[in-house]
Amino acid sequence: MAGQYYLVPISLILAFSYASCVQTVNGRIKLTVGTASGCSATVRFFRDQLVPTYALYGDFLDLEFVPWGRTVKHDNGTFTCQFGPNDCWANRLHRCALNILKGNQKAQLEYMACELAPPYPAYGESSFACIQEVGINIVQADFCLNNPDLDTLDEDAQKAAVEPMAVINLVPTIVFNDNPDRDVRNQASQRLSSMVCFALADDPSSGILGCQI
Ligand SMILES: *[C@@H]1O[C@H](CO)[C@@H](O)[C@H](O)[C@H]1NC(C)=O
Repeated sequence: MAGQYYLVPISLILAFSYASCVQTVNGRIKLTVGTASGCSATVRFFRDQLVPTYALYGDFLDLEFVPWGRTVKHDNGTFTCQFGPNDCWANRLHRCALNILKGNQKAQLEYMACELAPPYPAYGESSFACIQEVGINIVQADFCLNNPDLDTLDEDAQKAAVEPMAVINLVPTIVFNDNPDRDVRNQASQRLSSMVCFALADDPSSGILGCQI
């Protein structure tokens, strides 16, 4: 019986200590998400966590996407991707689209949410449907897709993925304020909006109150 007395307080302490891991920086929270086009956990994260959280708290978030996953770039210039050649193709298209949409994170999220929902246009159908849906010039996207030597998008993504993948070793990687942490990532994959809410509520300038665990 005595054990039961301890259950509630300990779970509350855990909940609040997790909640306090994430804080605002100058009133904002940077959220970097490492994705892979063929990854079902990435699909679930966008659908169940990121899109609803952005709808509530997007004004306070600085989003960054790294469509690289577990890609390996070989010395001979070829790529191996976790979900095969289609994954490589789609991840490259995602990098191109995000670059074209740079400075417009709402459109970037809309684009990625489109690609990561059925029928997964780029990954599943080698289609430019999401490119069209967000109003990107198809010729520009196609040119980027086919000319990786003319930009540094692959190298930039490869570099950006190193530390999150080393620390978290799961796709999607989810990193707050450039601090990769595996426990925080696992929490975020279950209750992102709650974590963001608690971080904002901790910062009186946000005006956000009344978070739920
Ligand atoms: C490039 O290198 C990788 C890894 O060593 C190998 O699997 C692949 O077959 C090579 N591809 C070409 C085109 O040489």
